[in-house]
Amino acid sequence: MRELTIALTKGRLASKTMELFEKIGIRCDEMKDKDTRKLIFTNEEYGVRFFLAKGPDVPTYVEYGAADLGIVGKDTILEENRKIYEVLDLGYGKCRMCVCGPASARSYLEHNQMIRVATKYPNIARDFFYNQKNQNVEIIKLNGSIELAPIVGLSEVIVDIVETGSTLRENGLTVLEEVCPLSARLVVNPVSMRMDNDRIRDLILRLKDAVS
Ligand code: PRP
Repeated sequence: MRELTIALTKGRLASKTMELFEKIGIRCDEMKDKDTRKLIFTNEEYGVRFFLAKGPDVPTYVEYGAADLGIVGKDTILEENRKIYEVLDLGYGKCRMCVCGPASARSYLEHNQMIRVATKYPNIARDFFYNQKNQNVEIIKLNGSIELAPIVGLSEVIVDIVETGSTLRENGLTVLEEVCPLSARLVVNPVSMRMDNDRIRDLILRLKDAVS
């Protein structure tokens, strides 16, 4: 039988994801070796192989069928907007997508002013301001340390992930509006879902049991 390929997000989600697979009896100890440069890890017993990719690339691998399944944050799913099925909320990696800034920026939002919005998530920010709030803003794409933008005067506000809130607090910023709640999700390639229906359904059900 063909191996099922599962794309995992590198970084914060990876260890929780491996814990989850261990819970349903699929171990992959090789992947825990921090010194390894290997990219693909096979568990022959269960006929699955895992690989680690950058978050925004996971939906791409799954859309093209290079991975049958993927585990990725809801933020990335919304931002990438790929043709994939989101089948399960895994319940970890919980955080919020928020509009943040200095408290003084609150009035710009209340009065629908033309402001600059810095973010790593231009599609989510555009959808929120244009479609949900009907506010015309200029979106500026950044690649990290987004909290810097309002501090140094690049933008009035940011759209970014808030988990504990400590990055905001330590930089004198605050949540101004919530865009949506986020967590890790299981995604599936639509063709794999049809072709390997039994195996994929079984895996979804076992993961669902393990997280509930
Ligand atoms: C994320 C996010 C915030 C921070 C929020 O950044 O962009 O900066 O975490 O977490 P907190 O509310 O618990 O402080 P990340 O560490 O992923 O790095 P980045 O700045 O490079 O995006």
